[in-house]
Amino acid sequence: MLRAAILGSGVGFVVACGGGTAADPGESSGGPAMTGGTEASPATTGESTGTGELPGTGDPDDTGTPGGPTYAEDVAPILATHCWGCHVEGGFAPFSLVDYDDVAPIGNAIVAETAGRRMPPWPIDSTGACQNFADARWLTDDELATIAAWVDAGSAPGDLAALPEPPAPPTLGEIDGTLVLPTYTPSAEPPEHPFDDYRCFVVDPGLAEGGTLVAFEVRPGVVEQAHHIVLFSLDSDAAVQQALANDAQSDGPGYRCFGDAGVSDTRIVGAWTPGVPVVRFPTGTGVALPPAAPLVVQMHYNLAGGAQADDTAIDLQIDPTAAHLESVIFVDADLAIPPGVAGHGEQSVTTYDGAPVDLLAVFPHMHQIGRTMHVEIASAANTTCAADVPRYEFHWQELYSYTEGVRLLPGDEVTLRCGYDSTGREVPTTWGEGSGDEMCAVVFFARPVQ
Ligand code: HEC
Repeated sequence: MLRAAILGSGVGFVVACGGGTAADPGESSGGPAMTGGTEASPATTGESTGTGELPGTGDPDDTGTPGGPTYAEDVAPILATHCWGCHVEGGFAPFSLVDYDDVAPIGNAIVAETAGRRMPPWPIDSTGACQNFADARWLTDDELATIAAWVDAGSAPGDLAALPEPPAPPTLGEIDGTLVLPTYTPSAEPPEHPFDDYRCFVVDPGLAEGGTLVAFEVRPGVVEQAHHIVLFSLDSDAAVQQALANDAQSDGPGYRCFGDAGVSDTRIVGAWTPGVPVVRFPTGTGVALPPAAPLVVQMHYNLAGGAQADDTAIDLQIDPTAAHLESVIFVDADLAIPPGVAGHGEQSVTTYDGAPVDLLAVFPHMHQIGRTMHVEIASAANTTCAADVPRYEFHWQELYSYTEGVRLLPGDEVTLRCGYDSTGREVPTTWGEGSGDEMCAVVFFARPVQ
């Protein structure tokens, strides 16, 4: 069964990212819903990274073919744009990729990770075959070739005195409210989540009037453990009361929540992943926040590097003139995923019966065994690919903004295909909010056709 609705409020939708850091099984293959290839994660196969160690590039004295690409001139500018948002000292990634001496010894791993499109993390296809996205963390084929050619030719340093500066991170500008999270020391939830804590906090942004949220900036308390944040609005008094009650019944600040915000009458109003300090909705648009109500901030802490006290804050920017985005949600809730299947596909089709809208951003969502997702919109005239996620990763869920909107008209048929790898599961997996349950859902942020 597939349901679709335009939902201004009253959505009990579920979001989570989860799991440990290293135990993610490789990509699955085959099956009707599979859109991706059969490549496997190097962490589990060792194929592209030898024995699991990051391999060297050979003779350390061999510093390149004369006239060939160099680190300073050719490679560092690419890394500055696409990697240094995370791979810097004190950044989210576990090691820096700034200094030549850090980069050159792991050249082969960098080639493997970039060519395999696992780094930078950006699970949605951005080749142009299925839409284009704003601020895509996506290397061009030329950039991939430059990195590979540099490693092939011996990783020459070039003029290291002339390394590029990292691009200045975007800034939020005017701040209209701030979500100040209480100080909280996360703790993992073994055995299911040996490295992760999912915690919901009820936080008042101090917006007496509510308003339209157009952008927000996350200031993580501890950069290397803040993996994922989802903001939910509480759209009724009952929802506010329920969230406060959850908090009161739980020890310490906030309460555990894997899937949704743990209450009904909520909407996703924003999602953040590391490396993107400022999240901005498409120009001139935003998401309505109810007046004088707290929000629920769901933090996913990854604790692979140990747990530290956190005091994240999130600055909000409100623009009363911005157009409201609505959520248009399609789900395939009738999931029956048999255990032990590397490439199981689920598919469903629904006829859209809402008002004409332009879809401006897309948020694909599955849980931990979700591997691929494909969303298509068929009108009488043609079929449009709306999202293709060949390497879905619950670790890296985000809201992708289209560079050009996708129109959705009443009568259009929306096909949702989700692929799963249930290897290791012993019982069937069905739809649900728990971390062992699955989902197949896509949330679009949309504007009425003008
Ligand atoms: C949004 C943050 C982010 C960006 C941007 C990013 N990385 Fe990473 N990278 C990580 C994290 C986090 C890890 C640790 C493993 C994991 O969690 O997947 C990692 C791991 C790696 C690894 C080791 C992979 C392995 O398992 O052996 C390599 C190599 C790498 N990154 C290269 C790059 C390169 C090259 C770029 C830019 C072209 C880049 N990364 C951009 C976050 C990022």
